[in-house]
Amino acid sequence: MTSPSDSGPATANPMWGGRFAESPSEIMERINASVAFDRRLALHDIRGSKAHAAMLAAQGVLSGEDDAAIQDGLDRVAAEVEAGVFHFDPALEDVHMNVEARLKTLIGDAAGRLHTARSRNDQVATDMRLWLRDTLDAVEHGLRGLQAALIAQAEVHAATVMPGFTHLQPAQPVTFGHHLLAYVEMFGRDRGRLADGRARLNECPLGAAALAGTSFPIDREATAAALGFDRPAANSMDAVSDRDFCLEFLASGAICGVHLSRLAEELVLWTGPAWNLARLPDRLTTGSSIMPQKRNADAAELVRGKAGRLAGALVALLTVLKGLPMAYGKDMQEDKEPVFDAAETLMLAIPAATAMIEGLAVDRDAMRAMAARGFPTATDLADWLVRALGLPFREAHRAVGRLVKAAEEAGCGLADLPLDAMRKIEPGIDMSVYDVLSVEASVSSRTSFGGAAPDRVAQAAAEARRRFLS
Ligand code: ARG
Repeated sequence: MTSPSDSGPATANPMWGGRFAESPSEIMERINASVAFDRRLALHDIRGSKAHAAMLAAQGVLSGEDDAAIQDGLDRVAAEVEAGVFHFDPALEDVHMNVEARLKTLIGDAAGRLHTARSRNDQVATDMRLWLRDTLDAVEHGLRGLQAALIAQAEVHAATVMPGFTHLQPAQPVTFGHHLLAYVEMFGRDRGRLADGRARLNECPLGAAALAGTSFPIDREATAAALGFDRPAANSMDAVSDRDFCLEFLASGAICGVHLSRLAEELVLWTGPAWNLARLPDRLTTGSSIMPQKRNADAAELVRGKAGRLAGALVALLTVLKGLPMAYGKDMQEDKEPVFDAAETLMLAIPAATAMIEGLAVDRDAMRAMAARGFPTATDLADWLVRALGLPFREAHRAVGRLVKAAEEAGCGLADLPLDAMRKIEPGIDMSVYDVLSVEASVSSRTSFGGAAPDRVAQAAAEARRRFLS
C-alpha cells in the first residue's frame, strides 16, 4: 500500500482492494472464504513459496536480502502452523492470503515481493498437487498394511475350508485363505491406481501464473526440481485450470471404497449370529442400548457405509468441473472439500478394516460345517462321471441333478447317499466316487493356477508377500 488512494477504502481487502470503492459484504466474504478447509494446505503452501522465492533470487528478480527475509519469515510462519498457534482469519479468504499477510506482519515490505511472477492460480494448483502427493503416499501405505493383515490371515487359513458362493448360495468349497487373497488382489490394484495417478500429477504448475505465464525470467525447471516434481507442466492454461489429478484420486478412492465395502459386508455376514463363522474382538464391536444380547459390527457397517461418501465426492467434483471454460474459475475452489473428505474417509476406513482383519477369529468347524451344506461337491460328482464313465458333461450334469434331488429327499449330503441309491440313477457309479465327494477332496483338487487348493493358496500367499510387501 503506497498511498490511501491506491489501496481503496481502509476496510477493502489489502491483497486486491486497489480498485474497490467498498469492502465485500458479509455474504460475499462468507461464500468466498475457503480458509476453514484449505488451511490444511498451509505447510505445502509455504514449501511452494520458499521454492518460488529462492528461484526468483537465483534469477536476479529478487534481492538476496529479500529472499533471506522471506525464507526466514516463512520458516517462522511454518513453525506457528506446526505448533497450532497460527491464527487463520476468514476475512483473508484463503490459506494463501493468510500466510502472506502473516509474513508481511513478520518481515514487512519484502513479503509483498514474494508474489512476483506468480498468481494464486498456479499457487493453489501447486499446493493441491503437493498435498495430494503426500496423501496418496499415506493412503497407499495404509492399503499395504491392510494387505499385510489379509496375507497373514490367509497364511493361517490356507487350508481352512469355507463355502464358496455364487448368488450368495453355496457353489463350491474354497478356503478362507483363498477368499482373503482375492481382496489382496483388489487392494493391490487400488494401490496401482493411486500410484498411476501420482505419477501423472507430478508436474509443477508454478510459473504458469494466472493463466498465460509471466514476463519475468523465471526458471520453471528449478522450482519443479526443488519441489520434487518430475518436470514443469507444459501448458500454463492447463496447469492452472484442470483438476483431473483430484478426479483420479477420487475415482481411485471410490473404487477402493467399493472394495472396502464388499469386505465389510462379508465381515458383517461372517460375524453375525445367523452365520457365526467368525468373531470380531470386543474392542471392535459395540453393544445396543436396549438389547443386551447384541454385539454389533458397527465398524464394519461404517466402512461399508463410507463407500457412499467416497462415491459422492467423485460425483461432486466431476459435476463441478464439467463445462468449466478455461482457465481458472472460482468454482475450482470446490475441489477441496471432496478431496479432503475422501482422504480422511480412506484414512479412517482402511485402518478400521485392517484392525478387523487382524482381530478376526475364525471358527474352522463352523466354516467346514457350512461348507458341506447345499451339495457343494455336485460339480465334483459331475466331473467324476465325465472322467470315470466317459459321460458328456451335459449328461453328467443332468444325472447329478437327479442325484442331488435324491439326496435332498433322503435328507443327506451327496457323500452320504448310499451306493445303490446312486446306481439307480447312474448304474456305472462305483465306490471310488466317494473319493471326490468330501469338501476337503473337492477343494484339494482345485490345483489350477490361481485356484483354491490349500497348497496353491499357501504358494499364492508367499507370492503375494513378495509382490505386495517386499
Ligand atoms: N482459494 C482459491 C482456490 O482454492 C485460490 C485461487 C484463487 N484464485 C483467484 N483467481 N481468485 O481456488
